[in-house]
Amino acid sequence: SAINVAILGATGAVGTRMIEQLEQSEIKINQLKLLASPRSAGKTKSFRGTTYTVEAATPESFVDIDLVLSSAGGAVSKKLLPFAVKAGAICIDNTSAFRMDPKVPLVIPEVNPNDLDWHQGIIANPNCSTIQMLVALAPLDQKYGLRQIVVSTYQAASGAGQSAWNELLDQAQQHLNGNPETASILPVSGAPKHYPLAFNLLPQIDVFEDDGYTHEEWKMIHESKKILRHDMDNPDLKVTATCVRVPVPVGHGESIYFKLNQNPTVTDLKKTLEAAAGVTLQDDPANQLYPQPITAEGQRDTFVGRIRPDYENPGSYNFWVVSDNLLKGAAWNAVQIAETLLQRNLLG
Ligand code: A2P
Repeated sequence: SAINVAILGATGAVGTRMIEQLEQSEIKINQLKLLASPRSAGKTKSFRGTTYTVEAATPESFVDIDLVLSSAGGAVSKKLLPFAVKAGAICIDNTSAFRMDPKVPLVIPEVNPNDLDWHQGIIANPNCSTIQMLVALAPLDQKYGLRQIVVSTYQAASGAGQSAWNELLDQAQQHLNGNPETASILPVSGAPKHYPLAFNLLPQIDVFEDDGYTHEEWKMIHESKKILRHDMDNPDLKVTATCVRVPVPVGHGESIYFKLNQNPTVTDLKKTLEAAAGVTLQDDPANQLYPQPITAEGQRDTFVGRIRPDYENPGSYNFWVVSDNLLKGAAWNAVQIAETLLQRNLLG
């Protein structure tokens, strides 16, 4: 039966793609509600041939809504989603607001769909960098046992929202015109200092913690352990991360070094990854085939290549993983969770 859906943050980089992914899904929708800040009220968007008007989100916006997909920032989720849950809706939240709450499942459908069974109204979408890393590593964890991850990310501007994406393009234009680059958003909006991303690299994503790691780096560490259940069942998984913003509009890259309990051959790893849901292997150095952001953009899969053993440490390997941060990293993962809920009779 058809459901009533609200998109919170419907005008943003992720919200726009949530609408697209929902439009392409099999989900039958009765009423669609597009919610954003008061600045966007009155804007229109078309969905499956009908024009919808964006409304300012309020605590009363969720009456009769069955499903909320939210990506309007953590503060907005914290404030508004409890009202949606009270109104009886299931919320799939793309922000970090509830991810580490023990009562909230943190779900990648290819990896831990059974965690959907114990939701209490809110289901969290993991961080974009965590999702693509675990789509690639979880099949190896299941087969060979994962002991350690050392990841360096190459994260696209759009991960910081539409305004950061626009800022990168403006800076590139300014640079080519011979003008000084202006920066007011990246690395983090609201931070005391801003630096240009165009023709640069920024080794800061989200705010710094007192220990010198960024919040983004800790998200990758904590979320990976929660999703793979290594905090409870297997305390042996070690994770460390360095997160870097690169001047790419869409598509995160990750250089991942990982250590397994077993010592499979690279051929074994490739076979396992080829059979894994949501993974496309792009690993053919002789033909210069490897994952790239420009070829991953617009795709739902996570692309894996450059698989190599660390010859000096048996059981340890390197690979390179790319995915569209706005799709598998955000909008597609959220819509895929909704589809999985419907398949399991947990929604509608
Ligand atoms: P708006 O476009 O009206 O500012 P992005 O991640 O691309 O920056 O998008 C953020 C999304 O969150 C946008 O849709 C934005 O709407 C929305 N948003 C920002 N602040 C609020 C708020 N206070 N209430 C509801 N939606 C908000």
